[in-house]
Amino acid sequence: MSPFSDELTQRLITLRRYLHRYPELSEQEEQTANRLEAELNVLENAEVQRVAETGLVARIPGRDRTTPVVAIRGDIDALPIQEDTGLSYASENPGVMHACGHDIHATWTIGAAHLLANEPAAGDVLIVLQPAEEVGRGARAVLESGALDDAAMIFGGHVDRRYEVGQVVVQPGPFAAATDTFEVQINGHGGHGARPQEARDPIIAAAALINSLHHIVSRTLDPADAGVVTIGHLNAGSAPNVIPDSAFLAGTLRAISTETRDRLCDEINKRADAVAKMYDVSAHVELKDGTPPILNDETAAQFARAACEAELGADAIVPLHALNMGGEDFACYLEHMPGCFMRIGAREPGGQFIPGHSPHFYADEGTIFAGAAVLTSAGRIASEALSNNR
Ligand code: NI
Repeated sequence: MSPFSDELTQRLITLRRYLHRYPELSEQEEQTANRLEAELNVLENAEVQRVAETGLVARIPGRDRTTPVVAIRGDIDALPIQEDTGLSYASENPGVMHACGHDIHATWTIGAAHLLANEPAAGDVLIVLQPAEEVGRGARAVLESGALDDAAMIFGGHVDRRYEVGQVVVQPGPFAAATDTFEVQINGHGGHGARPQEARDPIIAAAALINSLHHIVSRTLDPADAGVVTIGHLNAGSAPNVIPDSAFLAGTLRAISTETRDRLCDEINKRADAVAKMYDVSAHVELKDGTPPILNDETAAQFARAACEAELGADAIVPLHALNMGGEDFACYLEHMPGCFMRIGAREPGGQFIPGHSPHFYADEGTIFAGAAVLTSAGRIASEALSNNR
């Protein structure tokens, strides 16, 4: 029997369409937070608090309040994209769109709050509605609020149209990449394009550095390990016959282990120094920490797997199509507690794959209920096990 009453089903669909229609960018999720807060306040026993400005954490009391606490996290922010889906509830905020499905994530998390309020888990469950995932700052801000200090395990998921509604990818180990950015400022000495001997050319140094950086992955990483170095920003010069003073380049690093992540950073520093020496310029490297890799915990993944089997059937669990080199700030929680992140199928039967962050992206509405059921069940199973293992 479905755990969703007709009333709850309607409530969640209405909520999701509202969130989709009025998307808000990272750290500006004010209407979104107000609406979600109102949804949580409907639950008589929920203890609701605002965190990280536009985030919320609601504590849903368990049967025994001394049992270790489990958290369920959904992110709530949208992207700076002009929607082009033709949905009847398409975005009415110009240039802003729920193109990553966080409208669904927020809604299935509210769904989980209802299910847990109706039928409490062994211990308390924290319902986490996290802002600012897209800019990689929300999870840290929620953690800094202290609201998750007593959480012992956390679960979350992401919609994915690679998989049909009712399918879930759930497995231990690496699940999303670490994402860091780097910048290199190269300073030489400008001069006339016709007399390069009088100058120290930062452009040729930048070219050599770009070439060398692209060999880090192919020549220093184990081919069976995954890493990416992409230079997405290059800036130098202003005229064909002028050697400029400086050049600037910036890029993104992706890795699925902390060892590889450290290796990429070390290599960038080393190669920038070597190139600077070779071309008699200076190269200043700035590395900016992004989010760590997602490493799903073995035990948490077992609980999530059991939840998928119980709610959606044994056939529901499908293998990951390919290791995701994208980032996800859920990884920040996993630095503080074990947990499991899932990819939750969002494609209607017969539907096409549409990538996230596309102006055409949408998730089938059935995904709300699959996600809420699985996350609730994972929370219950974990809570029960943590209670028994005390
Ligand atoms: Ni996303």
